[in-house]
Amino acid sequence: MTSLLIARESAPEQRYSFPVPYGWYRLMLSDELQVGEVQTVRFFGQEWVLFRDANQKVGMFEPHCPHLGAHLGVGGKVDGELLRCPFHNWGFDHQGFCRQIPYARSLSPKLTHEPVLKGLPVIEANRMIWAWFHRDGTAPMWEVPNVPEARAPGWLTRHDPAFEIRTIAQEIAENSVDAAHLKYVHGQEAPLDVGSCYTGHLRTTALSGPMSIEDSQGQPIECEFSVDFEQSGPGIQVVRLSRHVSLVMLITITPVEAELTHLQFSFLHPDYGDDPIRQALVDDLIQEQIGERGQYVGVVADLPIWNNKIYHHRPLLCDGDGKIMEFRRWFSQFYE
Ligand code: FES
Ligand SMILES: [Fe+2]
Repeated sequence: MTSLLIARESAPEQRYSFPVPYGWYRLMLSDELQVGEVQTVRFFGQEWVLFRDANQKVGMFEPHCPHLGAHLGVGGKVDGELLRCPFHNWGFDHQGFCRQIPYARSLSPKLTHEPVLKGLPVIEANRMIWAWFHRDGTAPMWEVPNVPEARAPGWLTRHDPAFEIRTIAQEIAENSVDAAHLKYVHGQEAPLDVGSCYTGHLRTTALSGPMSIEDSQGQPIECEFSVDFEQSGPGIQVVRLSRHVSLVMLITITPVEAELTHLQFSFLHPDYGDDPIRQALVDDLIQEQIGERGQYVGVVADLPIWNNKIYHHRPLLCDGDGKIMEFRRWFSQFYE
């Protein structure tokens, strides 16, 4: 796992009463789990054991063996297609079926007709490992959006470390419909209240127009500015920005504990290595999203707010606020 930017500050205990919303969540990069590797991870308020078998398949399970309760992440080993328990060497496949018990004369149907390890659906997409979490165990209701730029020739990806934030996924996502804070927290001149389109698990928004930016020598560049935003459930936002350069942001929000959430940015852009002006412009654009650049401050400015705020179910709003209640009505489906 990448290291974490710790952004904790003191906050009251138990500020929220929501369960973990259902959806697809990023766990790690695909190459952070190699063939034959077993890892114990913490997500959604509990431990899980992840492994990658010899066929590249990934399994994710509750950590304790259904036989006599050993922790599969403490001494468990990958043996071909199986995860072997360290205690009596039972072998489980990536779907949670018990496939082999070395000392059993035969495997009874009770052991083999359904998965005996309880786990989560896991897929790999965009060079990342994703898990579907639904607290009732309901099967996935949509797919992880494909980001073709993650594998496109001539494109580069920069994965930033996770921000570890003492809040819930909804609060991070609500930030992008909160038009009024953009000026006071992020230094943006005019609030961008463009409205959202809600369809099932998707929230989309788009914005474009002419813009003047400065290159690294201070020379003005007239260009078209555009943003296409798509949020897929609570955990995934894909933002395509264009401003003389192209930048795709894959923003992921993953619940770790009831009130502790990882926010991660992966930046994808064409390789501008032989074009210093565009390289500087894309670096500036990335910096504006994360840290400080001139009057702009990116997500670092939200951290102390998220770490300390509370949630008003009936907030006192004014006519200049974004459509916060519309967003909340949409988001509430993920708690059902
Ligand atoms: S406890 Fe896992 S095989 Fe016995
Ligand atoms: Fe913000």
